[in-house]
Amino acid sequence: MPGRMRNPPSTSIAEFQKLLKASNRVLALCGAGLSAASGLPTFRGAGGLWRNHQATDLATPDAFEDDPALVWLFYSWRRHLALKAKPNAGHYALAELAKKNKNFMCLTQNVDGLSPRAGHSPDMLRMLHGNLFDVKCFDEECSYIEPNNLRDPLCPSLAPASEDYPVDQTLPLLDPKKPTPQIKHEDLPQCPSCKSAGRTSLLRPGVVWFDEPLDEAMLDEVDAWVKKEPIDVMLVIGTAAAVWPAAGYTEKARTKGARIAVINPDPNAQKGLTSNDFFFDADAAEILPELFDGVIGKLEIPDQAN
Ligand code: OAD
Repeated sequence: MPGRMRNPPSTSIAEFQKLLKASNRVLALCGAGLSAASGLPTFRGAGGLWRNHQATDLATPDAFEDDPALVWLFYSWRRHLALKAKPNAGHYALAELAKKNKNFMCLTQNVDGLSPRAGHSPDMLRMLHGNLFDVKCFDEECSYIEPNNLRDPLCPSLAPASEDYPVDQTLPLLDPKKPTPQIKHEDLPQCPSCKSAGRTSLLRPGVVWFDEPLDEAMLDEVDAWVKKEPIDVMLVIGTAAAVWPAAGYTEKARTKGARIAVINPDPNAQKGLTSNDFFFDADAAEILPELFDGVIGKLEIPDQAN
């Protein structure tokens, strides 16, 4: 917890509502905390361990090369959780803001697909770290990609990641005392394009892993948007802002005149903010509808029955 700040950020909801209403260009950077209220674990902190592995250790090309079955089981479990989860009021509030303000650009590090499912217009949403439901070839020479594959399980061998268990019991896959299911290489998802060319390559999740570059065209487009004109407000929602280049957008927006509003229950997340900025120590799902109220009005959440 930071010590007493010399120029603490404002925590006034009314002041922020007034600012947002008067704002033209708004940028947002979202992270795993936005989906926390939908029941999806964050990366760092309590939810970050999976079978005694740090989630971030499994999100690398080297981890996939070493043990593709383990990495596929991890991502299959995340696909299953994300498919079962429902967008929360935070996702809907952001989607609504995008409908009301055509100068609102939303960058998300989340790969769970909950923002698109909340109706957030793809024109105004950039999924910086890819999409859990895109499946692509692991061979960089092959450009095969299948977008939005919602099959669950993706193939029979990955079924242990998609079992539903009563809440008071642990899914066997998540119990590190139980052995990891052994899956033969040939039973993992194979690239159909390589297969028809007589090669064997595995498919992998269409997310950006550590040590991998983000989509260059997307970054160029976002940078052009940022540079084009002054920015009034930058929302930093549910992210530890520990991963680059995503974390760098806050300072870029500041150089374009933006006042920063951080929404995060962790008091450390207000580090670097000044009295010109805002800090809301709250669950994004609870506070975003209220913060956007002056622009989006009363938020209607559609019936989410699957
Ligand atoms: P982190 O897990 O690093 O941070 C989640 C943040 O959300 C923390 O600062 C929490 O305090 C905050 N938080 C938790 N619950 C919240 C809630 N209900 N409302 C608002 N905030 C809440 O996740 P990210 O910052 O998203 O990248 O991580 C960034 C990237 O690191 C991920 O996209 C992923 C990961 O490795 C890749 O896989 C490339």
